[in-house]
Formats: sequence, structure tokens, C-alpha cells
Amino acid sequence: MDYKKIAEELREKVKGKVNLNEPMNLHTTWRIGGAADLLVIPCNIEDIQESLNIANRNQLPITIVGGGSNILVHDLGIRGIVIKLTDLKELVIEKGFVQAGAGINLPYLAHAVEKNSLTGLEFATAIPGTVGGAVIMNAGAHGEQMASVVEKVMIMDLQGNISYLTNKELDFSYRYSSLRNKNNFIVIQVFLKLVPGDLENIRRKNYLYRQFRKEKQPLKYPNGGSVFKNPPHDSAGRLIDSVGAKGWQVGKAKVSEKHANFILNLGGASSKDVLELIEKIQQKVKEVHGVELEPEVIFLGG
Ligand code: EPU
Repeated sequence: MDYKKIAEELREKVKGKVNLNEPMNLHTTWRIGGAADLLVIPCNIEDIQESLNIANRNQLPITIVGGGSNILVHDLGIRGIVIKLTDLKELVIEKGFVQAGAGINLPYLAHAVEKNSLTGLEFATAIPGTVGGAVIMNAGAHGEQMASVVEKVMIMDLQGNISYLTNKELDFSYRYSSLRNKNNFIVIQVFLKLVPGDLENIRRKNYLYRQFRKEKQPLKYPNGGSVFKNPPHDSAGRLIDSVGAKGWQVGKAKVSEKHANFILNLGGASSKDVLELIEKIQQKVKEVHGVELEPEVIFLGG
């Protein structure tokens, strides 16, 4: 495959960035991942459609990423074209209706709606990630989740056709939506419905949630957020902690001492290190508690 030629064609047709052989560790919060054959950062809908056209014509696999949190990219990288949506940043806030480009990051969005005295998105104020990714995995914190604020999403199929999914059609449940594990749709825009609230209350809640994150979760070393989903009526962090796994290390990947459901990259960790640690934790928790921990992180590439 002549990726150089494809990159040239992409550069001609796309306004956004196009990089050849791009190390994905620069695009994941874990700072882990080998190179993508091609990375495109589109700046509008037409850019995405052009990229899909070119990818389809050359029969390239297509992978979509957002802010790079909650994903573990393989050391061997990702074949084909990776489309990163962080430059889709259009934002309209009108009364309680919010129309947000999929690439907007949640802390930014939470701050923007705070300025408009809208309540409902405070839970997301310290969740690192884009609003598009947050819908796909129904991100949540403090007992609330995207499901409670999403009205509908604009999606695109891999042929470039646009359609909409309502909240109901997204079929949300804990860390799940109908778009999860489906690689054939791209979230382009997210429509939220929020309600007017008291500015001081919204500010205070946002502040408390940011403090919570600082106190309870590790921020010093790169990580991918919660590694495992909480099993029904229990907490992955508590279970992992109870088997003595805090501090376990494989290569440069280490189970956080602060919160056992986080795996830290101490510097130069490989996806292999993380995967080995994930398996070790799963085995021990299964052996001691009989519980099968299911990863929350999404594995890409290889
Ligand atoms: N716990 C331990 N040891 C630990 C960590 C936690 O015993 O090392 C105990 C805590 O004491 C607490 C319980 O486990 O009793 C739950 O812990 P915590 O309150 O930290 O919440 P969590 O269930 O681990 C969830 C989300 C987080 C979200 C927080 C705050 C999941 C998998 N995680 O964590 O989301 O920020 O609640 O609401 O649902 C994420 O999804 O990436 C994420 C960070």
C-alpha cells in the first residue's frame, strides 16, 4: 500500500491535519501505542467525508478516536487510517439546548454550560475525554451519566451518510450505548438538554467534583481512566485493592496505590505490560472473589 501517495491525496482534499506513520502514544492519555499508518484530524464534516471516501477507495481499515482516554492502543499500532475528532469543536448553547461538536472535551463543555447557568452536566466536569466518546461509552461519575442529558446525536456511517439517533435509540445502560463496540458509525455532534439552575450551586458542584478527582484518583502519571467496569453492586477498585494488587508492576505499568482500578504508565510502558497486568488482576480477583472483571477500556490496533 502506497501510504505516501494516499497521504498526499488526503492533504489535497482535507483542510485538517494529515500525518503519516503517526505514533499513537501522542494521542492517548495513557501515552501508549504504536504508530497509525495514517492519522487525519478533520476540522469539519466535509473533511471526514473526504477521508472516508479515500479510505474506502483504497480499502483501508478505519478507526475513530476522540481524546484518547479509555483506550489502549497496541504496541504494533493501527493499520489503515485513524480519524481523530478533537477538532470538531462547534458549540451552540441556546437556553437549555446544547449542540456540541463530538471533539469538545467534557471539562471545557461543563465550564461553558456553567457560564450559562445550566445544570445537569456537573458530573462530567473532571472526566477527561470528548463528548462524542463519552456518549459512546455512556461515561459517568457521581451516580450520573451521559444518558441523563443526551437528547440525540448526529452520526455518520462509513460511507459518509448522516443520520440521527435519539436517546431511546442509543439504548443506554451502565457504560454502554448502542454505538459501543460498533465501528461502523461516527458521532459527529451531540445534542444535550439541560435545565436552568442556580449559578452558585453549579459552581460549587463542579468544584467539589474536581476536588474529588484530585483526592481519589491518580493524576500524576499517564493512565487510561478506570480500567475495569464496576461489577453489579460492587466496585472494581475495592475488589482489586482487597486482593493486594495495589503496587503490582509489569514492566513500566503499575497498579496505582491511590486507586486500584487505575494502571499507571511510569514512563515507557508498553501495551503488552498493561495487558499482562490486566490479566494478572482478572485472574486474582476471579480466584479470590469468583468475580470476572470486565474491562471498561477499549482495545485498538495490533
Ligand atoms: N475503593 C477501595 N480501594 C481502591 C479504590 C476504591 O477500596 O483502591 C473503594 C472506595 O473506598 C469506595 C469504592 O471502592 O468505597 C468505590 O470507589 P470510588 O468512589 O472511587 O468510585 P469507583 O466506583 O471506583 C466510579 C467510576 C469513575 C468515577 C467515580 C466517581 C467506574 C468504573 N468508575 O469509580 O469513573 O470517576 O465513580 O463517581 O464506574 C472512569 O469510568 O474512567 C472513571 C474514572
